[in-house]
Amino acid sequence: MALLGFSRRVLLQSTSRISSALRPYSASEEPVVCTLIPGDGIGPEISAAVQQIVDASGAPIKWEERNVTAIKGPGGKWVIPADAEESIKKNKVGLKGPLATPIAKGHPSMNLLLRKTFGLYANVRPCVSVEGFETPYDDVDIVTIRENTEGEYSGIEHTVVDGVVQSIKLITETASRNVAEFAFDYARQNGRKNVTAVHKANIMRMSDGLFLRCCRETAEANRDIKFNEMYLDTVCLNIVQDPNQFDVLVMPNLYGDILSDLCAGLIGGLGVTPSGNIGDNGVALFESVHGTAPDIAGKDLANPTALLLSCVMMLKHLGQMSYGKRIEQACYDAIKDKKSRTKDLGGDATCSVFTNEVCNRVRDL
Ligand code: IPM
Ligand code: MN
Repeated sequence: MALLGFSRRVLLQSTSRISSALRPYSASEEPVVCTLIPGDGIGPEISAAVQQIVDASGAPIKWEERNVTAIKGPGGKWVIPADAEESIKKNKVGLKGPLATPIAKGHPSMNLLLRKTFGLYANVRPCVSVEGFETPYDDVDIVTIRENTEGEYSGIEHTVVDGVVQSIKLITETASRNVAEFAFDYARQNGRKNVTAVHKANIMRMSDGLFLRCCRETAEANRDIKFNEMYLDTVCLNIVQDPNQFDVLVMPNLYGDILSDLCAGLIGGLGVTPSGNIGDNGVALFESVHGTAPDIAGKDLANPTALLLSCVMMLKHLGQMSYGKRIEQACYDAIKDKKSRTKDLGGDATCSVFTNEVCNRVRDL
């Protein structure tokens, strides 16, 4: 019952734009040791940028850097390198850059292996309009909460006969209930009014049916938060017509993968969207969701915003609210000011120029 226990302990940590309803952590000035997985491609340079900004803010964070490369453990199974696994287990909190995932060959996604290894059952992605950065949508403020360990991502696939393969979508009551409870706790602790369960239980009657039943039952026990349920396709249609009608969305794994990208698209893309993975035994891993961008890697062109805002989620999770808020403000102010925007946001600044701008602002706040 550790999962349920943890989920119920979720506390209000913030009322600011990217709020985090995560583990209560005493806000002491003793440095908190956090695992840092810089990742592949642009990962190392955006991680260095984030470290520089955290330093400038004076936040009491000590980084424990670990590489997560795919290796085979005893018995030939792909595993997380032992030093990285131990570090995350010990620290219970980490920040991670993008990790390369080969398509249909080689090692499995290390992102998924991390989620499985640490039972990171809820993935939270707040999608909030970035002031001054124009998109076709204003005032978007949606949070997607995605079941993060099973569904179509279970990796149970086999050949039935030559030319016919089967992939099994696994849905369990435990994981569905955990993520549903997390969604309601998150909503309550972050002053949100409404949780929408997103599903296709009209088609996948048993699997999505079970997920939906868990959401309904959880809603019954959380009557202070409004609950409604909608088909995934209807949500997609309505969200691009008027995103402002949505608040907190909770859904199974693959739907969450797709819908969270769609929501990120409403506010300017994955370069400005943070993400947090919450798991068993209080482990939380925050990550940028964009790819490794090998074409611009090492060229000082990457935008560190998504990783930085994920780090802001991490600081709030740790109870380091004032540092988190200052960094968040400095980041949004730097983007709003336009001068130091990176290419992906229509500017011509390098990663270093943007990073220095955020550092200067964070010191002044
Ligand atoms: C995400 C990513 C991952 C996923 C990939 C990198 C395995 O797209 O975190 O959304 O599909 O979940
Ligand atoms: Mn994705």
